[in-house]
Amino acid sequence: MLEIREVDKNFGGLQALDKVSMEVREGSITGLIGPNGSGKTTLFNVATGVYSKDGGSISFRGESIDGLPLHQIARRGITRTFQIPRVPKRMTVIENMLVAAGRQIGEKPIDVFLRWNKITEEDRALIRRAEELLEMVDLLHLAEEPAGNLTGAQIKILSLAQALMTNNDLLLLDEPTAGVDLDMSQRMMELMVDINKKGKTILVVEHDMRVISGVCEYVYVLDAGRNIAEGKPVEVQNDPRVIEAYLGTEEIKEEKATN
Ligand SMILES: Nc1ncnc2c1ncn2[C@@H]1O[C@H](COP(=O)(O)OP(=O)(O)OP(=O)(O)O)[C@@H](O)[C@H]1O
Ligand SMILES: [Mg+2]
Repeated sequence: MLEIREVDKNFGGLQALDKVSMEVREGSITGLIGPNGSGKTTLFNVATGVYSKDGGSISFRGESIDGLPLHQIARRGITRTFQIPRVPKRMTVIENMLVAAGRQIGEKPIDVFLRWNKITEEDRALIRRAEELLEMVDLLHLAEEPAGNLTGAQIKILSLAQALMTNNDLLLLDEPTAGVDLDMSQRMMELMVDINKKGKTILVVEHDMRVISGVCEYVYVLDAGRNIAEGKPVEVQNDPRVIEAYLGTEEIKEEKATN
């Protein structure tokens, strides 16, 4: 579904991505791991058009998306979440959901609110959809709450629900369980499996091997901007190159234990 071929990205002399390749099979949950600074987020930024790349090619559903700007890539069907999600704090949870959909139907977010007192059938459908998704992620009881009152974990969950508002079929999730407690992390894993069963393809960046082993069928490993390993979670976990890359950081094993 998403094919990344020998992609390069250079930041003023720093080779953040060095001929990185990977494939996300349609219908899969594919993992992307690697020590801090190995290029995972940069790859998301390049794949979604936030940054241009310096080499290589990316195709989505068999068509090149090289050189396309952010909004056009989103319109083709790719949505990403952020490692540190930011939501307008004064907007309510449900408003944040509607804004996420606004992007997809090509409206400027503000339009949704300008038309607020003149709610159309289309808006009603959108609100219903937002409520259904909030219910699915157990946030419906907070729908009218300003997003600023949510915990960090709830904001992570909200940003996943927002990604689902776009109706896009490929979701790139950047550390959806980082900074989230064990219960919430378990819930996030269930949600990933659930939405995958409902037809979403997922590429997920994670440090927590428990999450990777629990949900991913295939994993790619980056180190210092290069592919160093790939395979089933259990294969990758025991790969000496992967162990070596993580050596000294211990984060792959211990991050969750210290949370
Ligand atoms: N906009 C930027 N300008 C300059 N350097 C950048 C930029 N974005 C990322 N980098 C550098 O590129 C390298 C890869 O960073 P990236 O954020 O992709 O790593 P990561 O694998 O997502 O790490 P983490 O696990 O900490 O999130 C790092 O050395 C980082 O400092
Ligand atoms: Mg990152």
